[in-house]
Order: sequence, then C-alpha cells, then structure tokens
Amino acid sequence: MAKMWSGRFEKEASALLDEFNASLPFDKNLYKQDIQGSIAHAKMLGRQGILSVEEVESIIEGLKKVQDEIESGQFEWNIKDEDIHMAIEKRLTELVGEAGKKLHTARSRNDQVALDFRLYVLQKDLHFVSLLENLVTTFIDLAKKYKNVLLPGMTHLQHAQPINFAYHMLAYASMFKRDIERFLDSYERNNYSPLGCAALAGTPHPVDREFTAKELGFEAPTINCLDTVSDRDFALEILFNIATMMMHISRLAEELILWSSYEFGYITLSDEYSTGSSIMPQKKNPDVPELLRGKTGRAYGNLMALLTVMKGLPLAYNKDMQEDKEGVFDSVKNAEISLIILNEVLKTMKVNEERMYRATKIGHLTATDLADYLVQKLHIPFREAHHITGRAVALAEKLGKDISDLTLEELRQIDSRIEADVLPYLDVGRSMESRNSFGGTATQQVEKQIAYFEDFLQKLKKSS
Ligand code: ARG
Repeated sequence: MAKMWSGRFEKEASALLDEFNASLPFDKNLYKQDIQGSIAHAKMLGRQGILSVEEVESIIEGLKKVQDEIESGQFEWNIKDEDIHMAIEKRLTELVGEAGKKLHTARSRNDQVALDFRLYVLQKDLHFVSLLENLVTTFIDLAKKYKNVLLPGMTHLQHAQPINFAYHMLAYASMFKRDIERFLDSYERNNYSPLGCAALAGTPHPVDREFTAKELGFEAPTINCLDTVSDRDFALEILFNIATMMMHISRLAEELILWSSYEFGYITLSDEYSTGSSIMPQKKNPDVPELLRGKTGRAYGNLMALLTVMKGLPLAYNKDMQEDKEGVFDSVKNAEISLIILNEVLKTMKVNEERMYRATKIGHLTATDLADYLVQKLHIPFREAHHITGRAVALAEKLGKDISDLTLEELRQIDSRIEADVLPYLDVGRSMESRNSFGGTATQQVEKQIAYFEDFLQKLKKSS
C-alpha cells in the first residue's frame, strides 16, 4: 500500500521501518483533539473561500463518522498509516472522497501534532486543577475535624514541638494549592494556537489563525511559527508540574506509611485501601502509599527523558520529538489515579487521637517552653535558659519521665528561681496554643488558615 508521502519513493517502506517509525500505537490517544482541530481547520478553509460550503460540510460529517468508528471500536487501525493524523485523514478520504484530500491545505503534520498535543495537555492541566481542588477540600475537612488533636511536630524525624493535626493537614493544603497554581499558570502561558503554522514558515494560503484559535478555545494564535512547531515547553511544564506534585504526594505517602506502623499508630488505613501478605496472615500493608511513593520516580524519569530529547534539537521539527508523547501519557495517567486514590485513602483513614497525644508525652516537647518561661518570667538570658532547661531534660531522663511531668520541687532542684507559675508552660496543649504568631499552630491561626484555603477554593470555582 502506497504511503501518503510516497510520491518521490521508488521502493516500499520495510515492515521494520513501519513499526519503528509509527506513533500510531500511542498517538491514537489524541484522536479527539485531532478531529476537533481538523473541524476548526475545515471551517476556516471554508470561510476563507479555500473550500466550498459543500466540501466543508462533507468533511465535518466525515470526521464525525470517523470519531464514531473509533469510539465504537469499528475503526481499523493500520500501523502503515504511521500516525493518528494520517490514519484519520485516510479514512476520511475513503468516506467522503475528493474533499478529504483537500483538508490538509495550509496545514502540516508539524502544526497538527503541535495542536493536538497542546490541546490534550491544556485539558489535562485543568483536569489536574479540579482533582487537586478535591484533595485540598479533604485537607480542609480533616483540619476542621481535628483542630484539637495534638501530635509531636518533628524536625529530623525527632520530636520537636507539639502541634495540632489540623495544622499538619494544612501544611499539605499549602503544597497542593501551589500545585493548583502551577497547573493554572502553565495553562495560561500555553493557551495559544499552533494551527496554521504549517511546516515551519507559515503558509501562502490566506488562513485565518485568529478564527481557528477562538474556535478551539485558545486565547490567540502563537506569534512565531518556527518556534511553535518546535516548542514542547507546554509538555515539559505538565511533566514538571506532575513531578513536583508527585513529590508532594510522596512526602505525604511516606508519613502515611510511618503513621500506620505499630511504632507510630497515629492512623489506621481503611481495609478498603490496604493489602495483605501472601505468607504472613497478620499483616496489613500500606501498598497504596508505597505505590504513590514509587510512582513518583517514574514521574521524574518522564520529565528527565523529555528534557533530554529536546536538548540540542535544531529548529524546527525533528522526528526526535515524536518521543514527547508516551512519557506525558504515562505521567498523566499515573498522576490522575494517584490523586483520586490518595483522596480516598485520606477520607477513609482512622485518626487515632489517643496515640498521637501519647506521643506528645515522649521526647520533652515542651523543653523550649520551659526555656521561654525562664526568659519571659525570670528575665534569664536565653543562652543560660537553654542550659538550665538542658539540665531539666537530663533530670527527667534520669527519673524516667517526660519534662512535662516534672514536679515543681524537681524543677526547683535545678534552679530555685523557678516558681509555681512554670507548670502551665510544661503542658503540651498550652504549648501548642501559645504558638499564636501568624502562620503558627495555635487554633486561632489554624482557623485563619482554614478560612484562607476556603476562600482560595471559592475564588477558583468562580473563575472557572
Ligand atoms: N507522528 C509525528 C509526531 O508524533 C507527527 C509529526 C510528523 N511530522 C513529520 N514531519 N514527520 O511527532
């Protein structure tokens, strides 16, 4: 069978070339965008008098038929068609005859693939925004529910200062809010239409790129065609945004894994989202967060792969760029399911408030508060206060208790200036509430943070 581009060739392509060269096995994923773009292009050609009204109508009807065939599974995929663009055009021409052959006027596969792939990525940018909205909502719900639940805040994975669980959840709301902003930002920066750029230099045909841009929902046409057909920044951006988001997911996943261990016991993952062991009957494993953590590696890999493909490519289109799609499809698919399942895991997990509270009584979490007492009430210089507190910690260790359980007498053995008003300073709940500086863990601040994220989501809904 002769190829669409076979005019200048004398021998047929080898089957090996067909297999190596084709993108059809994966770019069939872009059939909808391809048809959408072709419909806009045909309408434009009609408006510009390049195609007749009848030709435009038969092309549009034909393209809809092709879409039906693909969606109902009747479409015959043939690797010899090379890519989705030629597969659809060939079938269209079988269906509508001569008019089908005119569709590619003033267009090249170079602007066509740039258009299809960009449309796909832009749609996914917005899909991630909506999936992330659901996730941020879950963190807000958890924060509202667990405002009074204390747990040890950590640095270096060592007990540091008491915080509340709401505050910890809102730290994640902050991260995923930035992810939302990144996807939106990428959407806006890249929302410009490549269609009509043709191979690399524009076209002598009187195309109306403004029209097709508006028709397809873009802000405007791109300004320089040489750049447009060789630009894959939009794809790199979604890969980077996904990689960063997966890094956030992975950090949370790591905490979920730790927290669901016997050692922590802070949470119990729902049976629905836990797995068993084939040999150890007692086991309940956190496979979901582990996979989330694992998939992050692939997301990074896909970003590195495309950065490397693009590096050093001379302008404009080079076939190397056909390698742009599979990594993006892979990252998108994995990130979508990751966000959905993570949200379910969070909504169904049990928070073990008692275990968290018990953990706040280990590791002398209120040691800084004792030092602050010595400074604030007794006007002892902080360095000295730090030293006195260190001795209190040593005494507590010797007595086998937490600093918050030292008696007044014990504390006065360390420094006789200490008075009874020290005792509230050692209380973990009071310690948490005392960190009432802007952005801190105190309930009042947490409430401000909840209001802030709710407002953010509200504005987002209004603007979409
Ligand atoms: N299948 C190609 C790709 O995915 C489409 C563009 C091909 N253009 C070309 N001049 N060979 O990148």
